[in-house]
Amino acid sequence: MPPDDNSKELEVGELYSVLKRRGYFWPSFEIYGGVAGFVDLGPLGSLIRENIEGIWKDKFLLEEGFHLVDCPSINPEVVFAASGHLEKFSDLLVRCSSCLLPFRADHLLEDLIENPDALGKDELAAALKENDIRCPECSSELGGPEEFNLMFSTFIGPGKEKLAYLRPETAQSIFMDFNSLYRYNRDRMPFGVAQIGKGFRNEISPRQGMLRLREFHMAEGEFFFDPDDPSFKGAGRYLDLEVGLLASSDPGSTIHTTLGKATDEGIIGSRLLAHFLGVTHSFATSIGIPAGGMRFRQHLPSEMAHYARDCWDLEVITSNGWVEMVGVADRSAYDLNQHAKASGVDLRARRKFDEPIVREISRLQPKMKEMGPIFRGDAKALGEALESLDPKNLKDHISSREPITVTLRGKEVEIPSNCYELVEGQERIHVEPFTPNVIEPSFGIDRLMVSVLEHAYRESDTSPKGGESEDGTYRVLRLDPRVAPVKAGVFPLLNKDDLPELASPLNDRLRRRGLNTYYDVSGSIGRRYARMDEIGTPFCITIDHQSVEDGSATVRERDSGEQVRVPIEGMVDLIEDLCRGRVSFENL
Ligand code: GLY
Repeated sequence: MPPDDNSKELEVGELYSVLKRRGYFWPSFEIYGGVAGFVDLGPLGSLIRENIEGIWKDKFLLEEGFHLVDCPSINPEVVFAASGHLEKFSDLLVRCSSCLLPFRADHLLEDLIENPDALGKDELAAALKENDIRCPECSSELGGPEEFNLMFSTFIGPGKEKLAYLRPETAQSIFMDFNSLYRYNRDRMPFGVAQIGKGFRNEISPRQGMLRLREFHMAEGEFFFDPDDPSFKGAGRYLDLEVGLLASSDPGSTIHTTLGKATDEGIIGSRLLAHFLGVTHSFATSIGIPAGGMRFRQHLPSEMAHYARDCWDLEVITSNGWVEMVGVADRSAYDLNQHAKASGVDLRARRKFDEPIVREISRLQPKMKEMGPIFRGDAKALGEALESLDPKNLKDHISSREPITVTLRGKEVEIPSNCYELVEGQERIHVEPFTPNVIEPSFGIDRLMVSVLEHAYRESDTSPKGGESEDGTYRVLRLDPRVAPVKAGVFPLLNKDDLPELASPLNDRLRRRGLNTYYDVSGSIGRRYARMDEIGTPFCITIDHQSVEDGSATVRERDSGEQVRVPIEGMVDLIEDLCRGRVSFENL
């Protein structure tokens, strides 16, 4: 039964010890005692992550037409000074005045007030005082709260001059690369760019295992569009999709409605935002999150990231309650404007008109004759930086003929008044520059992976058909075949009588087709099925004595325990079709 809004958290029984024992994941650095917030993905964890990312790529690259990029994790300081992360990407920390232990301030208020993470610094300080919160370890008084920046810092090269940070999101490279990507897209709007890679956040006290990691896998999409023409391909695709929405105007109640209606009624701010909520929902369903176990929650203004003007989280019910898995944010033109200002590089697209239109214009025109001798090789770039400024913000400088400051490659340069003029009036134009707006769906892959595993897990004291538990508890991971790390178990019933001679080449052929298999000759067949059920393998093929006689083998389906006998000859095609959902087991 999928949970709904009133459901309790998911019961996951022994799942986490199964995952550790069977090679999904385990704590990093364990032989040295481990460090919170770091996890190693084992052989099966690495494969399930790749499978989930593969389905994400199918959704975003093949279906939505996004372009994929892959950029550095280490970025120089200037990037995050421009993006605002240096100043604003922080959590509030309090430190014990006696034992000096640090704590995330809002965590200390979690059982006492609603949404403490939405409180500002002063409000948090007041709430801590009001509730007489003391050090959880030694009961002494707490200092603070103070801002703690969540980025990990390092240096590029041998010296200490070039300060750098590990990226807290993959998005910034996509914004910095806008001009190359726009050119790649043949100067056409709108378009989307995707990146899958690691993000790093130095969380103050990560407590929820895989749900809050300091080094984690992200998959992000940035969809660039013209705010004057937000039309896009596939606009009607998700309008009829029914979802649960918790709007910030009434955060206590879930509205069940379609994305189309929610947009028409102004609950969701735009068709485009609604579309990406639909893409997100469809992806989450396709990896195995039940529709009844997810909802979208709009951020309260007080919890919005510094770059967002609206954001809806996809939350999934887990054994830790409702947890954010994906953020779908309206980042407006914030990031492109910030990087354009800081770098001096024009990061605008061009709107083209078939017929010229008349526009009131006001812009700063560089006088290249004057600029050339002063700025030499930089004159052209400085001229462009000057032109991209809005004269409305520089009225006083222009009227008093003061120099205007522009930034080029992170350095400020003063342009004297004889090097520019203000051009105002009407102009007939074919082309007009504008800064694209951005909708960003940003996925936490590790969290999704864990939620998929939690929702797939079943524990029972009775074994399904054919299965034989070792310890009286039967454990199954009902993973979608596309998500499952191993697609088929291949078992010769006995390790003799020519059975391995048939099973082993079949196993090779399956693997050559790209279907990961587990070849097992040991133990009773019931135990072998149980081992595969426990790691989520959807199908098991058994070669028995009849196989030698007539060239057939049995295929067992994990969730029903049912078996069919089919020719070995067509087995590779069959398993591939079953795993891709092209045929269903019941119809065999
Ligand atoms: N890029 C979205 C995030 O940092 O959460």
